[in-house]
Amino acid sequence: MAYLQPDKPGKVYLPAIRTAKENGEKLVCLTAYDYPTARIVDEAGVDMILVGDSIGNVIHGYGNTIPVSLDEITSACIAVKRGTERAMVIADMPFGTYHISENESVKNALRLMKYGGAEAVKLEGGRNRVDLVKRLVNEEIPVVAHIGLTPQSVYKMGGYRVQGRTPEQAKMLIEDAKMLEDAGAFAIVLELVPREVAAIVTKELEISTIGIGAGAECDIQVLVLHDLVGMTFGRLPRFVRQYADVSNVMTEAIKKWSSDVKTGAYPDDSESYGLTEESLSELKSL
Ligand code: KIV
Repeated sequence: MAYLQPDKPGKVYLPAIRTAKENGEKLVCLTAYDYPTARIVDEAGVDMILVGDSIGNVIHGYGNTIPVSLDEITSACIAVKRGTERAMVIADMPFGTYHISENESVKNALRLMKYGGAEAVKLEGGRNRVDLVKRLVNEEIPVVAHIGLTPQSVYKMGGYRVQGRTPEQAKMLIEDAKMLEDAGAFAIVLELVPREVAAIVTKELEISTIGIGAGAECDIQVLVLHDLVGMTFGRLPRFVRQYADVSNVMTEAIKKWSSDVKTGAYPDDSESYGLTEESLSELKSL
């Protein structure tokens, strides 16, 4: 397959993530769903690229992550993998692809690795996923867990709310994190949990925490690329800091091109493609 190429020196695999935690070195992770953004993100030095099921909101406009299919993530993953040389590529397991049986979940995760080129998979859930995580890890599939706000539970939760605010919830969350670590997950996403709770989890675990809306103490920070660069619509989550306004840059470029077409400023003479005077005069006599 076209994406199979020798690894570059410094390619990020699990040992690099472990070493960074041991050394207290912060890492960064961003989402990407296609070849050009993967290239930009990888070349910018980001350590991990998540082919997130946020593709449902960001790319397909579904409104949430529930409808995202395995084919959509696999296809995005193939493109991302082709555009990535150094970062670790992690594929989200979509809703419904790890819920029916362990065997089917393994099959789906293997598909993401074999055809998508993913180097790890991510799935949502706490203690209810412990057996599954053990099984996946036993089959040589590196797993990132995801607790706190789990967007695939949006209908059950009734919205996107901060998790782990009460002492009971926080205790559950910390226990879940430990259980997932014991099950073999190599990292855990903590989404929308109080920074104090995330700090406890980060301190108590040997594996890395990947924070999104969970404070600065997490070992790794993750964001949806399109939020970071201003390419999403509607109100941004409070924890997002927008570093660029790419939508505006695109709109201005499109308006300028459109106006140049209408005024005749584009295209220009270069599109004669070097036609000779001789051929020109022949053309004119046709
Ligand atoms: O799908 C996604 O982008 C995610 C991140 C928000 C962690 O799960």
